Formats: sequence, structure tokens, C-alpha cells
Amino acid sequence: MGAMTLNLSAALGALVTLLAASFTDAATEVFQVPFTTDLDVLNATAGLYGPDGPWQAAVLMMGTWKRASLYEPMDGGPVVPLYPSGLNFLQVLTTEAGGEYNRSNASAPYKEYGNSGDNTMRLIDLNANHSTEGAIVIDGVTLVNNRMELPGYSNANATIYAMNASTIHFPNGRSYVPEVGTLGLGRPFDVLELPGTGIVDQLKAQGLITSSSFGLHIGSAAFGQRGSLILGGYEENRIIGPVATFKNVLGVPVVFLVDVNIDVEIGRWPFNASEIGSIWEGTTDEYGQAAVKAYSGKNGSVIIDPNGAVPGIYLPGPTCANAAKHLPVRYDSALGYYLWNTDDPTYASIVRSGAYMGFILSDSDAKNVTIKVPFTLLNLTLDSPIVDTPTSYFPCHDVTSQQNGYWELGRAFLQAAFLGVNYDTNTTFIAQAPGPNMNQSVVHTLKPSDTSVVSGPVDSFAESWRPYWTALDAASSATSTDTKKPLGAAAIGGIVIGVIAGLALALLGWFFWWRRRAARALAVEMDSQEGEEMAAKRDSKEYRDMPEMGAGQAYPVYELGPSNVAELDSPGKLAVSELDSPVKINEAPGSPGVYEMPVHSFASREELMKR
Ligand SMILES: *[C@@H]1O[C@H](CO)[C@@H](O)[C@H](O)[C@H]1NC(C)=O
Ligand SMILES: *[C@@H]1O[C@H](CO)[C@@H](O)[C@H](O)[C@H]1NC(C)=O
Ligand SMILES: *[C@@H]1O[C@H](CO)[C@@H](O)[C@H](O)[C@H]1NC(C)=O
Ligand SMILES: *[C@@H]1O[C@H](CO)[C@@H](O)[C@H](O)[C@H]1NC(C)=O
Ligand SMILES: *[C@@H]1O[C@H](CO)[C@@H](O)[C@H](O)[C@H]1NC(C)=O
Ligand SMILES: *[C@@H]1O[C@H](CO)[C@@H](O)[C@H](O)[C@H]1NC(C)=O
Ligand SMILES: *[C@@H]1O[C@H](CO)[C@@H](O)[C@H](O)[C@H]1NC(C)=O
Ligand SMILES: *[C@@H]1O[C@H](CO)[C@@H](O)[C@H](O)[C@H]1NC(C)=O
Ligand SMILES: *[C@@H]1O[C@H](CO)[C@@H](O)[C@H](O)[C@H]1NC(C)=O
Ligand SMILES: *[C@@H]1O[C@H](CO)[C@@H](O)[C@H](O)[C@H]1NC(C)=O
Ligand SMILES: *[C@@H]1O[C@H](CO)[C@@H](O)[C@H](O)[C@H]1NC(C)=O
Ligand SMILES: *[C@@H]1O[C@H](CO)[C@@H](O)[C@H](O)[C@H]1NC(C)=O
Repeated sequence: MGAMTLNLSAALGALVTLLAASFTDAATEVFQVPFTTDLDVLNATAGLYGPDGPWQAAVLMMGTWKRASLYEPMDGGPVVPLYPSGLNFLQVLTTEAGGEYNRSNASAPYKEYGNSGDNTMRLIDLNANHSTEGAIVIDGVTLVNNRMELPGYSNANATIYAMNASTIHFPNGRSYVPEVGTLGLGRPFDVLELPGTGIVDQLKAQGLITSSSFGLHIGSAAFGQRGSLILGGYEENRIIGPVATFKNVLGVPVVFLVDVNIDVEIGRWPFNASEIGSIWEGTTDEYGQAAVKAYSGKNGSVIIDPNGAVPGIYLPGPTCANAAKHLPVRYDSALGYYLWNTDDPTYASIVRSGAYMGFILSDSDAKNVTIKVPFTLLNLTLDSPIVDTPTSYFPCHDVTSQQNGYWELGRAFLQAAFLGVNYDTNTTFIAQAPGPNMNQSVVHTLKPSDTSVVSGPVDSFAESWRPYWTALDAASSATSTDTKKPLGAAAIGGIVIGVIAGLALALLGWFFWWRRRAARALAVEMDSQEGEEMAAKRDSKEYRDMPEMGAGQAYPVYELGPSNVAELDSPGKLAVSELDSPVKINEAPGSPGVYEMPVHSFASREELMKR
């Protein structure tokens, strides 16, 4: 990334100054985090990232900096682009890896991750062969509000996976270093027992936001839709129809995906088949089934993680293959992607129609909420260095759960979904988000007691897309008009808006992973690897206030474990030899799984503690 400045374009300077007075007091209870695309709003291609996007990312500054006044641009340390997610920590590339983060001011490493044998930190692409190495450190970051609102900035300490190396390898022999990191908005001490305090908790403690919460809609960078990341609140206009709510356990919402279908919201039916409906077949993946059972889901559903850290949509097969049967796509095994046949006449008519992939989620009350991801958004672009010339692709991947028991809905999905979390009530919200033609921003503060959010009318979904769905009528062929399906029927049957929490799966995976590693290593490593600085931090008030950290180094993870996890102990597969074998990454380089902790290696607490 080049020199990015948090400076509004000079051409806007006068306007900004004019508006500043009226904006100044507007947002004392929330903090709006800018996206890369907000920094140079006159340039439509600035702030876009690939090579599988285009994506836009949130920005913050590494290091602890101050801003003299609202009227001065923020300058100082490097501004880094980070994909927002519910992960428990930040991931950034260090200067050693060609990134922007100089970790010279960081605390001593809490834990080092080398590339050989302990590569548990891969969080990028479940479809990719991703290797990283680095260390968990704590360092200062500066959040900056770019809109002339108070507060103009905020300093916080972040738990950071500082990557000395990060490379994604493709089957065709190419590779690249992802330049965008991850902004983990979750609490480090949830699930992982990482050191540190969540960023939103710190902003709340500073009195800058009302609750420890955030509302996120990544939006569609390709269509110039602004991203929305509000700490302490959310934008009402980003939420349409019914909202699925999830109770977080250890910070993790358990989100069940019960069905996936293909349908049309409004306008012409663009597919050759006269009817498609469900493309879901459940899964025979034993880890997936065990995880659903452990969390008391319905047989035939799977647990999914709405995770902004990963680009694609990763589902149990043959869901994507079933979708592909109806789409002008071909699977390119050298790349590992479905590519659109852009010459096929049905390509444009599908991508510009009101057709969508519907993801039916079941929330904590077993209420179905459907998140519709228009095919308009599933026309993403592969670019250099993956391919030589820009190539349109369909971001759906049939994958096994990699022995993790869950699948992921990444940014391709989150373009069309709202994700919010209130850590004060341990509630996660997932809902349909609008298309690019959305209403004026209305920012709500989330209160510490809030367990619901306000949403707009269901039919505003079609309204928000109408200008972009140009193949709505019989212009090209086939049938015509808005007859396909009365909206009402769809709304009742399943249009209902889906809920997906960016946090959930990541936490689950972490949880799986951490339980095992912690069991083996915690007692030793907490003492031996912590530097003096970390030890001092642990003794500080900030850390003492966190019950999990206060509980000390013993085995707090197991004590915090939700009781239903114990069910995972039962599947008769817990021979000690199996606990060791499947998780050695160097022995199983083929597994692109992000988290190596297999479901079945949940040993009993006693067994883990012996290790
Ligand atoms: C717009 O941004 C792109 C990407 O950063 C850059 O290559 C291009 O030069 C910019 N255009 C102008 C007019 O500044
Ligand atoms: C690192 O610490 C030094 C001394 O405290 C300070 O001057 C410098 O600005 C810090 N660098 C960053 C990136 O925070
Ligand atoms: C990182 O910061 C240290 C201390 O400020 C400095 O000596 C070093 O040159 C910096 N490294 C890079 C690559 O900027
Ligand atoms: C990363 O780089 C730092 C600074 O050179 C070094 O201290 C650390 O050992 C490296 N970590 C790994 C995992 O290579
Ligand atoms: C970050 O942590 C250090 C060490 O505990 C502390 O001195 C500093 O005040 C913290 N900064 C913020 C913004 O909380
Ligand atoms: C939320 O979860 C955390 C642990 O993740 C727990 O410490 C806290 O008490 C919970 N709060 C509520 C209101 O349930
Ligand atoms: C939820 O969706 C699933 C899959 O489409 C369906 O089988 C189930 O009946 C629905 N449940 C409710 C309560 O509508
Ligand atoms: C769960 O569903 C699978 C097929 O999806 C089926 O083979 C299995 O028998 C079911 N299990 C139970 C307990 O119903
Ligand atoms: C649909 O049918 C048309 C005409 O036969 C054909 O050209 C097109 O490739 C078909 N599309 C798909 C996705 O099979
Ligand atoms: C698919 O996306 C590419 C890149 O944004 C765009 O050029 C193309 O027009 C899109 N295809 C359709 C049918 O809209
Ligand atoms: C905009 O708000 C109006 C009034 O609430 C609503 O009727 C309309 O559906 C909304 N449109 C969109 C695209 O959200
Ligand atoms: C992943 O990439 C590394 C480095 O190119 C290679 O050694 C390894 O075999 C690859 N693994 C798979 C499964 O392709």
C-alpha cells in the first residue's frame, strides 16, 4: 500500500470546513471507522483491493498518535487497511514481510507462530494454501474518524498477530502476499484467552461509545457502496426486514445454516431450468455433523461463520456444484475457482437480473431468516497475480470442514448482510443489508442493554437494487415482466432476512484450536514466554478487570467451556493417538483449513490437563 493519508481530498476541503460545525457534536456516542474508499472520494478506483475483489477495507493507524484538532488531518504512523471481522485480534504484516507495521514498540511476544508445524493462524481463504508466521503482541493503534466528528481519534491497545510472513499459494504455482490485514473487533479473552482487551471495550471505557458493540456492513465496493463500520452503534438504513439474533457463548454466536436456494426477487426468471429452489443437501462431513449435534442444531444443518477476514463463500459440497449446474460457469482446477463464461448469453442476464442465492439461517429462537446475495454481487474479479488478465469469477467453494466442523461465509456474502454484535449483552445480529441504492444514513447508538436493532421494510431490498438489475424485463428473451413471484409469498416463505455474525465460526475454530493447545502448553508457556512487559500488563488494572485473565494461568479455558462442548467428548474417537495425528500441519500440508483443531479432539478435561 502506498502512502495513504487520512486527508480528505483538497477539492472537498471547503465543503468539509463548512460542514464541520454542524457535524461536530453529531456522534459523541458512536465512533465511525472509515473505509479505504472514504479517503479519496473523488477517485472511484482508490482504496480498492484484490486480487479476488474488489474489496474495501477499514483503516486505522498503527502506533499511538494524537490529533491536534478536528480541522487537521491525522498524520503520523502508517495507515493500514484491515478487513473488519469478529475475530479476537488484529492481523497485520510487519515491515519484515513488506507490510507497514513496525513492531519495535510492541510488547514482548505472547506466543510465536512458526511456519513449520504450528501454522494455526491461517485465516485467509479456506480454499487457499496459506502459510504465515509471526507472533502475538500487544501494541498501540489509533482509530481515526475521518468525518470531522468528535471524537476525532481514539488510542487503544490491540492484540495483534504480527506476521513476519504471509503467503497464499495457488494450484497453478502462483502465490501472493495479502496486503490487507484483519481488524478483529472481538474480545481477545473470549475463547482464546489471548492477552489484551477488546478495542470496543476500551473505547467504551474511555467514554467515547455507549456500549461495547459494533455494526458492520462491508457493502459492495464494485458498486461504489460505502462501507459502514460503527463502533457503539449501527446504521439503521443498513438493516432490512427481520433480524436474526444469536446469543453469544464465549463471544461466539452459533449460526446454523439450514438451507441454500436460488430464486428471483423481482423481474424475469433468467435461468434455463424452469424452477430451481433448494440446492442444499446437508452434509455427510462427520465433523460438521458432530458440531451441529454438540450445539443442538437440526440434523442436516451446518454451523457457519460469517467472517469478513475471508473472501469467499465456503460450503459443504455439492452446494456450489448444484448452483453451478444452473449458471454459465466452469470450474478451473488450476486456479481453484468457478469462472463465469462471460460469452454465454445467460451470463449477463443472470448477473443483471433480480436473481439471488438465498442463505437460510436459523437463529437462537429457531427462526428462519434468509439473506439474499444477488448474483450481481457474485460477479467478482480475479486479478494479477492470480491471473494475468481480469477474470470474472463466482466466489462459491465446496469444501470439507477441514475437520473443524463449520464452514464460512466471507466478504462475498457480507457484501449483502448486516452483522452487529453487542458484547455487553452477548448478542449478535445478522440481517439483510440493502443494495447500493440505499437510504440516507441514520445512525443509532446501541445501549449496553440492547438486544435488538431497528430495521427497514422488507420491500426496500428490491428497491435498493432496482436500478442495478437491468435485465428485469423481457428485453433479451423468454418470459417477461414482474411476474415471477409475488414478493409477499417470498417474504413469508423465506425471504426473511438472514443473520450472520462475522464472529461466530472464527471463534468456534479458535475455541477448538485453543482448547487443545492450551491444554498442552498453557501452564508452561504463560510463564516462560511472557516478557516482563506482558507480566507487568497482566498485573495492571486493565488486565485484572478481566475475569478470565485474572483467573490466572491455570486452565481457565476449560472452566469457561460451555457445557455442551462436553458432548464432543463422546464420539468414541478420542484415542490419544488421534489427538496428535490429524493436527500436524506439516504432515498434512494439503489441508487448507484455517483451524486445525478437529472436533473429535476435544478430549475430556482431565485428559487435556494431563497433556
Ligand atoms: C485513483 O486511484 C488509483 C488507485 O490508487 C490510482 O492509480 C490513480 O492514479 C488515481 N487517479 C487519480 C486521478 O488520482
Ligand atoms: C515508539 O515509541 C517511541 C518512544 O516511546 C515513540 O517516539 C514512537 O513514536 C513510537 N512509535 C510508534 C510507531 O508508536
Ligand atoms: C522500526 O522502528 C525502529 C525503532 O523506531 C527503527 O529503528 C527501525 O528502523 C524501524 N524499521 C523500519 C523497517 O522502519
Ligand atoms: C519476526 O521478526 C522479529 C524481528 O526480527 C523476530 O524477533 C521474530 O523472532 C520473528 N518471528 C518469527 C516467527 O520469525
Ligand atoms: C496501553 O497499554 C499501556 C501499558 O499497559 C498503557 O500504559 C497505555 O495507557 C495503554 N494505552 C491505552 C490507549 O489504553
Ligand atoms: C458475556 O460473555 C462474557 C464472556 O464471554 C461474560 O463474562 C459476561 O458476563 C457475559 N455478559 C452477559 C450480560 O451475559
Ligand atoms: C426453515 O427452513 C427450513 C429449510 O428451508 C425448513 O425446512 C423449515 O421448515 C423452516 N422452518 C420454519 C420455522 O419456517
Ligand atoms: C442426519 O441426516 C443425514 C443425512 O443428511 C442422515 O444420513 C442421518 O441418518 C441423519 N441422522 C439422524 C440422527 O437423523
Ligand atoms: C441456457 O440455454 C442457452 C440456449 O440453449 C445456452 O446458450 C446457455 O449456455 C444455457 N445456459 C446454461 C447456464 O446452461
Ligand atoms: C462483472 O463484473 C465486471 C467487473 O466489475 C464488470 O466489468 C462486468 O460488467 C460485470 N458483468 C456484468 C454482466 O455485469
Ligand atoms: C427508504 O426509507 C423509506 C421510508 O422508511 C422506505 O419506505 C424505503 O423502503 C426505504 N428504501 C430503501 C432502499 O431502504
Ligand atoms: C502449499 O504451498 C507450499 C509452498 O509452495 C507447498 O510446498 C505445498 O505443497 C502446498 N500445499 C498444497 C496442498 O498445495
